[in-house]
Amino acid sequence: MTSPTSTDKAVLSRHDLETRRLAAETIAEEAGALAIDYFRRRDELTIEMKRDPQDVVSVADKSVEDLIRKRIAEAFPEDGILGEEHGLQHGTSGFTWVVDPIDGTSAFLHGLGNWCVSIAVIEAEDPVVGVVRLPCDDETFSAMRDAGATLNGRPLHLDSRKTLKNALTGIGANSHIPPKMAGALIEGLMATGGNYVRTGSGAQMLAFVAAGRLVGYYEPYMHAWDCLAGYCLVREAGGSFTDFPVAGDAILKGGPVLAAGPGAFDDLKALADRCEPLRHG
Ligand code: IPD
Ligand code: CA
Ligand code: CA
Repeated sequence: MTSPTSTDKAVLSRHDLETRRLAAETIAEEAGALAIDYFRRRDELTIEMKRDPQDVVSVADKSVEDLIRKRIAEAFPEDGILGEEHGLQHGTSGFTWVVDPIDGTSAFLHGLGNWCVSIAVIEAEDPVVGVVRLPCDDETFSAMRDAGATLNGRPLHLDSRKTLKNALTGIGANSHIPPKMAGALIEGLMATGGNYVRTGSGAQMLAFVAAGRLVGYYEPYMHAWDCLAGYCLVREAGGSFTDFPVAGDAILKGGPVLAAGPGAFDDLKALADRCEPLRHG
């Protein structure tokens, strides 16, 4: 028997990604259906506080993540899994799933439909699959490395004529940063003639960048589960993102998240850099 050629290996590796992308789409739809069932009876849920009253969680987040972890373990028992609610379990295959069962929990619990299920797969630190499912809008954003991004099966391609000035930019902020920094970002964006949107779900807004609804997204402090699916979507639609370290324990740490289309990336990055000194008060 001859050893596999580099073409054989490339075919195998593409197959590995395709099976995971398909599984991520199916799992995100099933998880989204469970989540929307909780959403419809949210008045019955007990709200638990995490860091502060803006950072909350309920049984919905935990049981949606349980379902996602179960499905991944059944289909890919050798893959690692990191989920916001239940932490990191290492795998042996070289693939790690990075999951936010409900991104936009505050919106969810207050009755806004701006929340999503976010599922990424990383390989050698690269987000190779990204799926964001918005159950309230029946939308699935899906991407795979070198295979493009889609919205409900329709290909997404970013328009380089969109800029901070002529389009909308997503800005996110949480209690990890001083209010002054959030204020400076909004002020700086508006001073350039642009304007901002914040839906309450960073993963959704990154998917919106991939779809061209927002020209860019910046949030000074988020986690891997908030951004990696969106990063894969944006890259595959023709945009760029700043590095989010995921090697070793770095995957558990928070950091800045920035992604944008080709006509806005440099300007959004320059704005973020100008506001960076305010991070520490
Ligand atoms: C949050 C949302 C929010 C962003 C926060 C995230 P969660 O995630 O994405 O838009 O501003 O930084 O933590 O808690 O709803 O999963
Ligand atoms: Ca989140
Ligand atoms: Ca979450």
